[in-house]
Amino acid sequence: MVAVRESHLTSRLQGFGSTIFAEMTALAQEKGALNLGQGFPDYDGPRAVLDAAIAAIESGQNQYPPGPGIADLRLAISEHQRRFHGLEYDPDGEILVTAGATEALAGSLLGILETGDEVVLLEPMYDSYQACIALAGAITRPVTLRPPSYRLDVDALRSAISARTRMILVNTPHNPTGAVLDRTELQAIADLAIEHDLIVVSDEVYEHLVYDDAKHVSIASLPGMRERTLVISSGGKTFNTTGWKVGWVCGPAGLVAAARAAKQFLTYVSSGPFQPAIAVGLRLPDSYFVELAADLRRKRDRLMSGLEAAGFEAFRPRGTYFITVDIRNVRPDGDGYAFCRELPDRCGVVGVPNVVFYDRAHEREGRHLVRFAFCKREEVIDEAVARLKRAGS
Ligand SMILES: Cc1ncc(COP(=O)(O)O)c(C=O)c1O
Repeated sequence: MVAVRESHLTSRLQGFGSTIFAEMTALAQEKGALNLGQGFPDYDGPRAVLDAAIAAIESGQNQYPPGPGIADLRLAISEHQRRFHGLEYDPDGEILVTAGATEALAGSLLGILETGDEVVLLEPMYDSYQACIALAGAITRPVTLRPPSYRLDVDALRSAISARTRMILVNTPHNPTGAVLDRTELQAIADLAIEHDLIVVSDEVYEHLVYDDAKHVSIASLPGMRERTLVISSGGKTFNTTGWKVGWVCGPAGLVAAARAAKQFLTYVSSGPFQPAIAVGLRLPDSYFVELAADLRRKRDRLMSGLEAAGFEAFRPRGTYFITVDIRNVRPDGDGYAFCRELPDRCGVVGVPNVVFYDRAHEREGRHLVRFAFCKREEVIDEAVARLKRAGS
């Protein structure tokens, strides 16, 4: 007989009941609110990519793809890494296709970490990092990035490293802050990784979404880093296909093999007909990637000025499709969670409270911050801003 308990949730996942995105997206649907919470575009990706998926379905590519991913996608990923980052990966053994970057992260963390290992990472952080580290029985050691600039505090990074540190988990361009780590910051991380012989996992899902004078640099391209780094990315953000969940890991064969060992028992394989379609996307001309960033920069500027006009202090992101605001001018008690819970009823807009991206012990760092996504049609951004202004006045 199954023992009846208050909660059947494993102690490793206590506190990770359900993700904030599910909660806020459900709230948006229930209230018919504009969802600037979850980071998905409300417009489709390039026609050639959509057509390739349709053709793959119609031509019968609907069964299990090969474990590491279809050969042509692995080749397209290696070409893309060479074209944009100057990095060479062997499609046989150094590239693994996954169910989105989420599974790439889970596979890497579960496949590599031992119980009690420590992982140093940037805070605020994408919410699956903490949960996967906890599932692996490992320990999160956050280094906090602070507004307005969200630059890396290298001394704090150095002091977060201990004898038990196994890995540094980097995310650039960074969700939720929109910070893009520059070469100096990445070199500081690389120097520490080499000095302490650490593995680096680099989440680069927003690699093409950079604005102004920011440039995305993959930490794997710095001297001595390729052999200790797993680079993770996915097609969701780059081709507006977040529902397809085609992600990948690139790295030295030994590290990729460890990630693959865990990944094979998670989904085994996924996204069969979407894999050839993402290969088409990765081979689009440079103009596609330039226009993608230019379009999102215009949307960023639109939402930035709207949020400022609505009274928020907004921190201009140089990457990703998120803007973080300090709500205290609009809501003096600075309770971001309560603010986001009430916002759909008050004005029909959904945002995400940044507090969920912080370690428990550091919640006060993110309490007054809220994230809005700008990967939305311009009329949706304008309407959301108009509603926020009305709610503030
Ligand atoms: C930093 C970061 N990593 C990973 C992911 C997940 O990517 P995917 O949808 O490809 O699993 C996201 C999605 O929002 C993200 O923001």
